[in-house]
Amino acid sequence: MAVFLILIGPPGAGKGTQAERLEISLGVPHISSGNIFREHLTNKTELGQAAEMHIAKGELVPDRITIGMIEERLSQPDVSEGAILDGFPRTIAQADALDRFLEARGENVDPVIYLNTSDEEVLRRLTGRRVCRAEGHIYHAESKPPQRAGICDEDGSDLYQRDDDREETVKERLRVYRVQTAPLIDHYQERGVLLEIVGEQSMDSVTDRLKSVTSVRASG
Ligand code: AP5
Ligand code: MG
Repeated sequence: MAVFLILIGPPGAGKGTQAERLEISLGVPHISSGNIFREHLTNKTELGQAAEMHIAKGELVPDRITIGMIEERLSQPDVSEGAILDGFPRTIAQADALDRFLEARGENVDPVIYLNTSDEEVLRRLTGRRVCRAEGHIYHAESKPPQRAGICDEDGSDLYQRDDDREETVKERLRVYRVQTAPLIDHYQERGVLLEIVGEQSMDSVTDRLKSVTSVRASG
């Protein structure tokens, strides 16, 4: 049975950080909607141009565009054993579309992890975040500095600050999260697949908790 693990949480909760680590232990690909959009922006594709304005303002990209993009990614052969979904779904309409897509393959969403993190911590994390140009590897000026300033430890590419990590845009992303994404917490809670993890603990503690949850699911 494939594993479709979903990471939900506000911007900066640590979804990408934990997904990078879980990808290795679970052996299924990390699919980040934000990373796919940023690749399209870099490559100046039609989809990237359609998404650009929304991302710059801290709004969600319309469901129609996002759902099509993720379904295409989920249809690739490396997803046969499942995936770690980071940043998708982010609306009830996206969750419903994902259910339909997985049901057609005889699969289910499970588990859904909610990384609960306060607005103050989110602001601290995002204003100090740096991301690698080549693969999106994630760093932080204080919590996870690279070995050489401005250079990714993994692939040697340069590190940059995301445009949407400016304080005003982060505040808008938090507002959008509360209105459009937070309802997914109750949605999945009612289905009995939600697990909440305190996001405000060390990266290693969050990873340990995630690994214990996923190993129980895998063996159960
Ligand atoms: P996306 O890229 O998904 O951004 P996000 O959800 O706002 O989340 P972030 O990537 O900012 O945070 P994260 O939780 O991954 O945290 P990270 O691990 O990096 O989306 C960007 C935009 O694309 C959206 O605003 C929207 O426009 C569009 N979009 C994407 N998906 C969409 C969808 N489904 N529908 C519509 N539009 C969509 O960690 C943050 C920092 O904290 C790092 O510096 C890290 O080193 C540090 N850190 C992590 N964990 C810890 C810890 N435990 N302790 C201390 N520091 C930590
Ligand atoms: Mg991320």
